[in-house]
Order: sequence, then structure tokens, then C-alpha cells
Amino acid sequence: MDLFEYQARDIFAAHGVPVLGGATATTPAEARAIAESFGGRAVVKAQVKVGGRGKAGGVKVATDPADAEAKAAQILGMDIKGHTVHRVMLAETADIAEEYYVSFLLDRTNRTFLAMASVEGGMDIEEVATTKPEALAKVPVDANEGVTPAKAREIVAEAKFPAEVADQVADVLVKLWDVFIKEDATLVEVNPLVKTAAGDVVALDGKVTLDENAGFRHADHAALEDSSAVDPLEQAARAKGLNYVKLDGEVGIIGNGAGLVMSTLDVVAYAGEEFGGVKPANFLDIGGGASAQVMADGLEIILGDPSVRSVFVNVFGGITACDAVANGIVQALQLMADRGDEVTKPLVVRLDGNNVLEGRRILDEANHPLVQQVDTMDGAAQRAAELAAAK
Ligand SMILES: Nc1ncnc2c1ncn2[C@@H]1O[C@H](COP(=O)(O)OP(=O)(O)OP(=O)(O)O)[C@@H](O)[C@H]1O
Ligand SMILES: [Mg+2]
Repeated sequence: MDLFEYQARDIFAAHGVPVLGGATATTPAEARAIAESFGGRAVVKAQVKVGGRGKAGGVKVATDPADAEAKAAQILGMDIKGHTVHRVMLAETADIAEEYYVSFLLDRTNRTFLAMASVEGGMDIEEVATTKPEALAKVPVDANEGVTPAKAREIVAEAKFPAEVADQVADVLVKLWDVFIKEDATLVEVNPLVKTAAGDVVALDGKVTLDENAGFRHADHAALEDSSAVDPLEQAARAKGLNYVKLDGEVGIIGNGAGLVMSTLDVVAYAGEEFGGVKPANFLDIGGGASAQVMADGLEIILGDPSVRSVFVNVFGGITACDAVANGIVQALQLMADRGDEVTKPLVVRLDGNNVLEGRRILDEANHPLVQQVDTMDGAAQRAAELAAAK
């Protein structure tokens, strides 16, 4: 999960990284009030999860509260690389003498952590990295040792930070490493880390990516999620513990195993070309051991999607036998009927693999008016696409 700058700033502050005062606004009037509380001057910064905000006009210095209101009005609603600005952060202004770059990240290729640092930070760091790679120090960080004060001094030396800021930068690095480890981040980046005219080192921008797999260790991280950006169906699916991703098409998909579901999406999209471009409506992997409850939960999410016109249940019985899956489908439909959910969309079921004959027999016997079986994956995809197009 990527964080907004203002969230990164809060986390930095909590771990003792020096930052400037900041507060967010969603209206120009709020921006004005915040600027007033800062004594007038403020930097108005677009809060979007994409880089290059400054160059896109999303970072502007305001000289007084009225100017902050005007600048916020310009930036709110702005589109930055496809991201609409719904919120701005007002930050106290720094009198910048020098701009540096520092980051910690997971270096997957080398199976280690990596520190990167440069005294040529600021908005052109990407260019520095490609045209002057020697100006960007890269220092591997041992996971067991971490960034000790000695390691921080090594990074500072590699990047050739000026002597007068060396101690401060080293101290910031140790604290940023604390953010990286204690918050279970996969990226912590500060660009720019600045030296002010007064000689203080301050983080003026922050990018943090949190490892969602470690979410169970951080009850407070859930609140950082941008709920406005999460699809409501995906939210409902997550609450039920389902691996669901909303897509744009019309054929609801349920399968067991991520690989099978991925190829089902391809096969349905391919079959759909013949029917005016019908496409899969979602990814949903119900995993192994699909119980009636999981099947019912999955069907409920998929049938709750207004763009779904037919459903393709594609199951290859492995550890889970097809008769269990078939029973799951029958019970799921019964469960939904008992609950009063009206099921009106046709289901195409393809079962194969472990105990397939018994599975097919169970569905035949149940003889549900909306369920039809097709023996092959291609045939079933074709049928589901056809039904979606016909509806
Ligand atoms: N609080 C501040 N006071 C003075 N100048 C600032 C402040 N914040 C940012 N700036 C200036 O604006 C530039 C761009 O700001 P920032 O780094 O936050 O955005 P960005 O780099 O364009 O965005 P991104 O990191 O998303 O690409 C900085 O390099 C710095 O020169
Ligand atoms: Mg930046």
C-alpha cells in the first residue's frame, strides 16, 4: 500500500524524523485557515499517489492566506497523470540551501535491502540516476544488522554528503530505517531531504510503501487506506476474505486456483470477441476446499455486480473433489434462495478433474433452472460469453 505524502509525514514525525508543520485541506477555505495558522506563508502540495507533482504544477508556494486559498483552488481538482487531486497538504516553508535524496528499499534482485543516497536530490533525481549514476550511492543493508550509526555514516560517506550535515543526515538515516523496519515498509524515500539556510536537515517530501502482508502486525495501518479509491465490491469481498478483483466486463468468473482463474479470464475475453467484445467482469479465486459458504459468498459478490450478465464457474478438482464443489454450488444457490436473494443470472459450470462424474451427476440431479454444465473450458467460456451478450 502506497501512502500519501501527508501520511508519510505523520509517520516520519512519529519516528523522530525532522519534518515541517503540515496539515491537509479539501477546500480552498480550509487551506486559507491552515496558512493563517502558519503565519501566512505555506507550500500548497497536491496529495496524489504519483510522482512528479512539482513539475505538473501540483506544488506551489503561497505568500499569504489569500494566496494559499487561491493556490489550493488551482490545485484541488487538478489531474496529475490520471490522478485527480482531492486533497492538498499545506506545509510550512523551508528556506532551502541544498536538496538531497535518500531512500531505503527492498532490492529483490539481490535479495537484500538497499540504501540509496545522493547530494543531487530534488525534482530531477530520476535524471541524475540515469545520466550520472555515480552521483547516486547504492549501499546494501544487511537485514540482520540494519542501519546502525556506523552503517549510516558509511552511506553518508559513499554519497559524499558535506561534512557540516554528515551527523544530521546519519541521524535521519537511522530514524528512517526505524520507520522502514518498525512499520514494515518496502520503500521509504525522502526527496528532497534539505539543508535549510539555518543549517538544519529536514525531510520535505516522503514516499512510503507499506507491506500489506504485514498488516496483521499493524492494526493502525488499516486507517491509512484510501477508502475512496477502493471499489465497494472489492471492499465487500475483502471483508469476506475472498481474492476478488473487479474488472470491466460482463461475465462473472469463479475458479479455484489463481492460475486457472487467470487463464479463464483470457479464454472468456477471447470467446467474447465473437459476441461484440464481451469480457470477464472480475477475478475471483475461491482456492482449494471451496465450501458451500465460500461459494455462496463468491456468488453473492459476483451477482451483486450490476454489470454481470452471466457467471462462469470453472473448477478443476484436485485436492478438492468435484462432488464437493457441486454440492457447494447447489447449497450456495439454496442458501441464497433461503436468504431471499433473487438469482436471475445464468450460471455456466465446467467441472473437471477429481471425481468429476459424481460432481456432474449432482448438478444434473439438482436440475437448477439457471445452471447449465459444459464439459470443456473453451466450450463453457463460449457459452457464458454468448449468454452475457444475449441478456
Ligand atoms: N515545505 C517546503 N518548503 C519549501 N520548498 C518546498 C517545500 N516542499 C517542497 N518544496 C520544493 O518543491 C519541490 C517539489 O516538492 P516535492 O518533492 O514535495 O514534490 P515532487 O518531488 O514534485 O513530487 P514527487 O516527489 O511526488 O515527485 C521540492 O524539491 C522543493 O524544492
Ligand atoms: Mg519529491
